Amino acid sequence: MWKFANPIKHPIPETRWPTAEEAKRSRLFQPIEIGSITLDNRTWVPAMVPWRATEDGFVTQDNLDWYRRFAQGQPAALVVEATGVRDIPSGPLLRIGHDRFLPGLKKLVETVREASEGRTKLFIQIIDFLAVRRRPEPARYFDRFLKIVWRHRAAIAELTGDSNWLGVDETKIRQFLNAAPRDIIDRVLDERERESLRFGYRERVTDMHLRHIRELPQVLPGIFADPARRAREAGFDGVELHYAHAYTMAGFLSALNDRTDGYGGARENRARLPLEVYCAVRERVGGDYVVGVRFLGDEVILGGNRISDAVYFGVEFARAGFDYLSISKGGKFEDAEQPKIGQAVYPYTGQSGYECMPTTLSDERGPFGRAVPLVAQIKRAVNAAGFTTPVVATGGITTFEQAEAILQSGDADIVGMARQALADPDWFLKVKLGRGDEVRRCTYTNYCEALDQAHRQVTCKLWDRKELDESGITIAADGRRRLLAPEW
Ligand SMILES: Cc1cc2nc3c(=O)[nH]c(=O)nc-3n(C[C@H](O)[C@H](O)[C@H](O)COP(=O)(O)O)c2cc1C
Ligand code: SF4
Repeated sequence: MWKFANPIKHPIPETRWPTAEEAKRSRLFQPIEIGSITLDNRTWVPAMVPWRATEDGFVTQDNLDWYRRFAQGQPAALVVEATGVRDIPSGPLLRIGHDRFLPGLKKLVETVREASEGRTKLFIQIIDFLAVRRRPEPARYFDRFLKIVWRHRAAIAELTGDSNWLGVDETKIRQFLNAAPRDIIDRVLDERERESLRFGYRERVTDMHLRHIRELPQVLPGIFADPARRAREAGFDGVELHYAHAYTMAGFLSALNDRTDGYGGARENRARLPLEVYCAVRERVGGDYVVGVRFLGDEVILGGNRISDAVYFGVEFARAGFDYLSISKGGKFEDAEQPKIGQAVYPYTGQSGYECMPTTLSDERGPFGRAVPLVAQIKRAVNAAGFTTPVVATGGITTFEQAEAILQSGDADIVGMARQALADPDWFLKVKLGRGDEVRRCTYTNYCEALDQAHRQVTCKLWDRKELDESGITIAADGRRRLLAPEW
């Protein structure tokens, strides 16, 4: 995990919790309109993948229990985890790429309605991602994955001064590379091949030599539109298009996208497909259905999007008709750490990953509300352009005072909490009832994120301080952790 050179350990902020009366009068607990619906108040739980779906992407009882537990705390909005739009295997992540997923998703909607007594609006985040392969054993890479081309032969012939390499059997080339020291390998392989060897093969939206990548602009609008229609049919209150972090649509928005087919280069071109996808979704779900977007206020990578890009996208998304803008930060592959052999690169291990889920080991600014200045700039630009599209701020928001200050200063319209809601899904109800001093405070040390990285069922370390032998609780597959937050 990436760390600051001389990190400062920040304490969890002390706070004074409001009385029930103060909470009632606060801005945080005032309703807000999002498109055609009204949220009870301005609290929000953004998407979090819990690794609980079946291997085929179906909703499980564990998924239902997970979302029921959040709903019991009655946040005004709850966004279901990134859910795959394609009908292809993708491990235990939820999927919505076919009608066979509908019954499970409908059950999920009913579960949340019932547990929140209808107070929590339920959105679903829908995502497309490109291929990412595990880091291979070097021998396997040279034996099987590397495509031997003339360039390799020529480089070896030049390095060895032996032109026989130009005509030898391909197996000989593979054997040579397998036995070669790093500096020789570096001179024979190109940059992408070196990356595939040391990090695992990873596709990009700029891989124009691949037909399926070239054709993304033609296929993605339909690939997103059908699942959005399914979300409506399942009963979700809205759909959130995942244009953030390390995934396909963020790849199109990125300043690193230099496609020359009209979908890369200048900002207008980079926004083109994301807007076309939006239009296809809107057409399919109708004007009276909530369609939101999550995108980055800053990619936090070399050559990536900065706040000026995000401001431009925010205004264009609002102009197009998105019903809300949810802002995240970082979470990219480009600066991720090298994975171990057999594991896949994880986009939250570099500095951009830190900025996505900041911990208490930080710089002088600390982890709390670090992304708010970006959110504020986007919101001001959106409002100045004449749009009132609600903007959601997330990232290290943990106390009522902090949330209220963000809203009072006009930096955001809605406040999201991911890890704090994971640590204590009852935060919302406790604060509303004037019982904030009973909140189980997130420590922002990312035990949960490490589980996500290992593709293990996500839980919070604080839950396990309560008796594990309590009757009726479900335990993680490793037998050592509660799968759900303790009851309040
Ligand atoms: C376990 C875990 C899974 C996450 N999964 C998603 C996801 O599916 N989609 C998404 O947009 N963000 C995801 N995030 C990021 C959160 O939504 C949020 O932006 C981030 O944790 C920062 O907010 P926080 O400081 O309130 O936790 C995830 C975060 C965690 C901890
Ligand atoms: S595991 Fe740690 S960072 Fe994650 S929610 Fe729990 S206390 Fe917060």
